Amino acid sequence: MKVVAIVGSIRKDSYNRKLAEHVKNRYQDRFDLEILDLKPLPFYNQDLENEPNEAVQAFKDKVKAADAVLWVTPEYNGTIPGVLANAIDWLSRVDRVMVGKPSWIMGASMGQLGTVKAQLHLRDILLAMGLSSHLLPGNEVYVGAAHEKFDAEGKLIHEPTIQFLDTVVDNFIKWMNRYHQ
Ligand code: FNR
Repeated sequence: MKVVAIVGSIRKDSYNRKLAEHVKNRYQDRFDLEILDLKPLPFYNQDLENEPNEAVQAFKDKVKAADAVLWVTPEYNGTIPGVLANAIDWLSRVDRVMVGKPSWIMGASMGQLGTVKAQLHLRDILLAMGLSSHLLPGNEVYVGAAHEKFDAEGKLIHEPTIQFLDTVVDNFIKWMNRYHQ
């Protein structure tokens, strides 16, 4: 199975990216995870949506070809970052490549609540816009106090989180397989 991760932070030391990398590495025998780069995406512009530039087209093609999508969101001012909203805007128009794909959400923040508000908003956006009618229910991954859970090399070292992710990933694989028999 091919899964793409859409990570709503483009900074190089992003905890959310590290979380996605943990999933990519730890479960590499179970599915192939590609972390997509949102940096080259221009601001969404309706004038350009029918003839998007190369970066947008490549991004949409990768999402279209994937069996599932993993959303990894930081929380900015109590909601999802603009970088992520921008990516969703591109995905939501013209060929709507997200529609019908199984997907799941996780997030890391330095606050104790670990992106609860951002994830609620993201879930609402994805469901309300019909972008992902197949969102994994439950299995909510809120990695709070992220700065205490990764080591200096960016490795996830918080054992309860690692164990919880093992369970969530099992559940996600079962969920994904329901749509790809
Ligand atoms: C934050 N941060 C933050 N944290 C949180 O728990 N709730 C919030 O509403 C916000 N708001 C917020 C706004 C902006 C503009 C920034 C830059 C940061 C802190 C945030 O959790 C922290 O910077 C994370 O490290 C961001 O995720 P990445 O970049 O490490 O993946």
